Amino acid sequence: SKKIVIAIDGYSACGKSSTAKAVAAQLGYGYIDTGAMYRSVTLYFKEHNVSLTDPKGIKEALKVIDIRFKYNKQEGVNETFLNGTNVEKEIRKMYISDAVSDVAAIGLVREAMVEQQRKMGKKKGVVMDGRDIGSVVFPDAELKIFMTADVRIRAERRQKELFEQKQIVNLEEIIENLRKRDRIDTTRAESPLVQPEDAKVVDTSFLTFEEQVGEIVKAAEKTV
Ligand code: C5P
Repeated sequence: SKKIVIAIDGYSACGKSSTAKAVAAQLGYGYIDTGAMYRSVTLYFKEHNVSLTDPKGIKEALKVIDIRFKYNKQEGVNETFLNGTNVEKEIRKMYISDAVSDVAAIGLVREAMVEQQRKMGKKKGVVMDGRDIGSVVFPDAELKIFMTADVRIRAERRQKELFEQKQIVNLEEIIENLRKRDRIDTTRAESPLVQPEDAKVVDTSFLTFEEQVGEIVKAAEKTV
């Protein structure tokens, strides 16, 4: 059957990436986590002391930043590599979550990432998740999903996830981080998070994981 692009956008910690991964697996599609790309750039900027107000330094850094995704067969997970180093664990830490939205608000950074994302999706048969996939990266995507959920429920899920990675973080701190990221993501000048008019809205507050994956797979099958 015809391969399509599935764009999944929405607020932070709605389960976009886990859902997108499962949808991709069920359809035999590739999965691209664009948040991991902005997180990797953030890590690089921190490690190399790139100032967010220095366009020249940012341009130089973007020239040498190489981000790749590799599937780890043993663990059955996708991993992010920054210039050859596996950064999957590092980029999920709170100090990156706290800084990433400011980095992702920089036009030069977005231009570079969007260009790579378009290349990665050119052959179709991909599920891509982020904030601007249906609005900017692939405005012609055959299927657009907008995911949302109550902020407290999102925070509880994220806390559990962090706990499983042995990181103990206070719930209020996570709620604060999510609110802050939602605010920066929806109000920034460059490609703010918007709900595309032609997107199917999936509110995951009261859906099980299987239900939310099922809804999107069903919508994809109707599209092709
Ligand atoms: O999806 P995730 O929460 O890992 O994304 C981290 C941050 O990267 C978001 O809070 C947002 O600021 C930024 N982002 C973005 N555009 C995307 C994906 C992520 O601005 N397409």
